[in-house]
Amino acid sequence: MRESIIIYGSRYGTARRYAERLAEMTGIRCIGHKDLKKADDYGRIIYVGALYAGSVLGLKALANELSDQELIIVTVGLVDPQDEANVRYIRQNIRSQIPARLYDERRIFHLRGAIDYGTMGLKHRLMMAFMHSRLAKMPEDKLNAEARVILETYGKSVDLTDFEGLDKIKELII
Ligand SMILES: Cc1cc2nc3c(=O)[nH]c(=O)nc-3n(C[C@H](O)[C@H](O)[C@H](O)COP(=O)(O)O)c2cc1C
Repeated sequence: MRESIIIYGSRYGTARRYAERLAEMTGIRCIGHKDLKKADDYGRIIYVGALYAGSVLGLKALANELSDQELIIVTVGLVDPQDEANVRYIRQNIRSQIPARLYDERRIFHLRGAIDYGTMGLKHRLMMAFMHSRLAKMPEDKLNAEARVILETYGKSVDLTDFEGLDKIKELII
């Protein structure tokens, strides 16, 4: 049987930390998405990817490399996955990023991430400043969950990571 691997797509380290902790919990090796050489060597891929503007970082490129592998997707983002509307929105985006045969809702999980404007790169800071100035002018009742979280966390350092969320993923994979 081909082995399993945990792959992370992370810009500032939150998704990487989740992936590393899951690797400790399961004994499965973990690597960054840019370090994957040959996807065919693996029978099962657990992809832990950060959400950026609705998309899972690195997922689309990985999915194009896959043939018959089992794919488990773990998203890491700031919006609250307890809210069904958020989950629907994230999943719609995943559906548009990967081939239909890889899309299996029993194998998709959502965890909360962190943001720190102190360490954020210039491009992301400018994106957030632009979005914030646009959203701040919108009436409260027109704001969706993503907009609210941007406004609430703007300029701050907020860490919502919760490693207990990994337990249900561990149950599925071992
Ligand atoms: C430019 C930008 C866009 C983001 N877009 C989303 C988003 O669409 N949905 C979400 O839940 N979180 C979003 N986030 C928050 C990140 O997903 C969160 O900070 C995550 O923990 C980053 O993971 P990383 O540290 O592994 O890069 C965004 C953050 C930035 C800076």
